[in-house]
Amino acid sequence: MGQRRKRRLQTPASAVSYDLVIGAGILESLSSWLDLRGFSQVAVLTDTNVGPLWLEAVERGAGRSLPVWSMRAGEEHKTLVSLEGIWSWMADIGMDRKSLLLNLGGGLVGDVGGFAASCYMRGVAFAQLPTTLLAQVDASVGGKVGINFRGLKNLLGAFQQPCAVGMDIRTFATLPRRAFLAGVAEMLKHGLIRDRAYFEEIAAYEFGALGAKEGEALGELGDVAEQTWVDWIDRSCAIKAAIVEADERESGLRKLLNFGHTVGHALETLSYTADAPLLHGEAVGLGMIVEAEIASIAGFLDEGGVDTLVGTLARVGLPTRLGFLLDDGALWSAMRADKKNVRGAMRWTLLRSMGEGVFDQRVEDAVVEAALQRIR
Ligand code: GLY
Repeated sequence: MGQRRKRRLQTPASAVSYDLVIGAGILESLSSWLDLRGFSQVAVLTDTNVGPLWLEAVERGAGRSLPVWSMRAGEEHKTLVSLEGIWSWMADIGMDRKSLLLNLGGGLVGDVGGFAASCYMRGVAFAQLPTTLLAQVDASVGGKVGINFRGLKNLLGAFQQPCAVGMDIRTFATLPRRAFLAGVAEMLKHGLIRDRAYFEEIAAYEFGALGAKEGEALGELGDVAEQTWVDWIDRSCAIKAAIVEADERESGLRKLLNFGHTVGHALETLSYTADAPLLHGEAVGLGMIVEAEIASIAGFLDEGGVDTLVGTLARVGLPTRLGFLLDDGALWSAMRADKKNVRGAMRWTLLRSMGEGVFDQRVEDAVVEAALQRIR
């Protein structure tokens, strides 16, 4: 067992606290950090990609085989239809209010499983076992759960905190390099909104040394790289946890975590229609470029900041230009549906400097149009 970090997140609004446990071999040691004995039943939700790879490790960690539901992998399955299947299975296996649902997978499984658990019998416990970098540093922490609806990302959902989050960095071995790099975009975001030194540290990392080529899974990281990534995941979790602790329900400060997401969510949705699907982190990277450019045109951020961001994303291996033609009408209607907007008026999360985000900013549509040129 390699290095392990443990961090407690406490939410004053829903008055719960839970551990974020990060390290190598976390799944196999499940019952050493999560006490399963108090639950009437423990069951696993996973997907068709992750289950065959990591279910066995979870069952070893639990010390027994567990009931499993494997939903179809892919963002297009973040739907009511998937939820119905999960709820039927939960009822079929007799899950009651004292049961625990373990969500093993990426952001899709965590979001859908968290929402399923939050509604079933008005709420049963769930733990997140995120197997992607992106889900470890973002989706699994902070209790946002939900599904897509009517073509909009996460339109239906809830704030419902898990009882624990276990992040096993060994799962990166089977993670496609592209998906891993998409997670780095969210880590850069944490640095950009709160901690410039953290952004610069990641920006200086030798991503080529990760080994895997495009299209390949990452493979073993090795001890030194494992330590670096455990430290950084913990740092991202620290930034996110502090924000969630201050503003669990996103009435203010938590909007900082949406930097890059107003444009990013819209691009992600449209990329599916254009048949050139972007991963969430890739879309957020492009969204950060546009939103940093908005900040620059609006006079918050100097132009050098946008260049640094674009150069960093390119060095990481993330897209800095759109690979498909944008339908401007569809883009604006997706951006206008953003959950941060109030009475139809758009509210932007921007950067005041590299390391300091600001939220609830109003900008002219023409500024947004001009900023979009940066990625076209
Ligand atoms: N992913 C943004 C948040 O959790 O608030």
